[in-house]
Amino acid sequence: MSDKEHLIIFDTTLRDGEQSPGASMTREEKVRIARALERLKVDVIEAGFPAASVGDFESVSAVARAVKDSRICGLARAREDDIRRAGEALQEAEAGRIHTFIATSPIHMEKKLRMTPDEVVAEAVKAVKLARSLCDDVEFSPEDAGRSDPEFLCRIIEAVIDAGAGTVNIPDTVGYNLPEQFGALIKRLRENVPNSDKAVFSVHCHNDLGVAVANSLAAVMNGARQVECTINGLGERAGNAALEELVMAVRTRQDYFPCDTRIEAREIVPASRLVANITGFQPQPNKAIVGANAFAHESGIHQDGVLKHRETYEIMRAEDVGWHTNRMVLGKHSGRNAFRARLKDLGIEFDSEEQLNEAFQRFKGLADKKHEIFDEDLQALVTEANMAL
Ligand code: KIV
Ligand code: ZN
Repeated sequence: MSDKEHLIIFDTTLRDGEQSPGASMTREEKVRIARALERLKVDVIEAGFPAASVGDFESVSAVARAVKDSRICGLARAREDDIRRAGEALQEAEAGRIHTFIATSPIHMEKKLRMTPDEVVAEAVKAVKLARSLCDDVEFSPEDAGRSDPEFLCRIIEAVIDAGAGTVNIPDTVGYNLPEQFGALIKRLRENVPNSDKAVFSVHCHNDLGVAVANSLAAVMNGARQVECTINGLGERAGNAALEELVMAVRTRQDYFPCDTRIEAREIVPASRLVANITGFQPQPNKAIVGANAFAHESGIHQDGVLKHRETYEIMRAEDVGWHTNRMVLGKHSGRNAFRARLKDLGIEFDSEEQLNEAFQRFKGLADKKHEIFDEDLQALVTEANMAL
């Protein structure tokens, strides 16, 4: 790894990802995913919400027993029972973290919690102190920070850092913020909280407006050194910031970012597949990094460019994120060069250009009728072309 600052990757696939309607996982499935996250070299795995159910408590304990190279985190509301339950679930973890949260936006405080801002600060401080008595690594989140008053955020953050929180996480719980605004919020908090240098600033962005990754990256440029994310962007509603996109944006643009992660990028596609197969949520084909078309080229111009030099149309190598290779899709937009290259891969050579042309014409005719031309189609085409001449 480079000598740049470390950007901590906090994966919450097993907690916020599991909160996707229809994505719940069994204990065994969670352990399999946690092991894949450990192979990815995720720094912190949020394994669940132990107070939510006996099953979730057992899943967090099982992950804590199974994984040794990543820190295991359990979520807890700012309530005594929740925090004690999280502490218990993490007992066998090599390295554990309690993540406690309470809402700070006016709408949440008034309508959901029915508490005054002073009461919220007092509860947050009490929660962090209790969590610290059970675990030496504590994270605090002011839920719905994205719609909270920044001055109030400064006040509660200063208080929880004094109470012992080592990580302060700023969630854009409902995905309301836009990149410039969210970056400016992180800068303002870091500059105005007097003890801000005593904690790592983290962000947790939801994707309701499709900008969770952009918001997280803006926060990183403004000093956040932990990002919370999920594999395939799984999560409540429109999901969370996608781990694979964050990691590869930072890695691909090392000219731009002052930090890097320790993620083993070749494990990204295997982890994505595992999560997709377990949850049944397959990433859309054009999903960055892990979608089936992320490294596929169909147009003749692009195929010709890539065959001459991959960097003409590729900013990352498919192999570096765990794909076997990039892919040339033969369809109606494909050109002669890609056609010839695929036939060569199949061991088919032509005696003359005339034969190649005849086969290529037949291929174009078929491609107008079919979305993708497979290897078997090519074999048949070539046989027909040879017979026609
Ligand atoms: O979105 C959110 O606010 C959360 C918190 C519990 C961090 O998931
Ligand atoms: Zn969330």
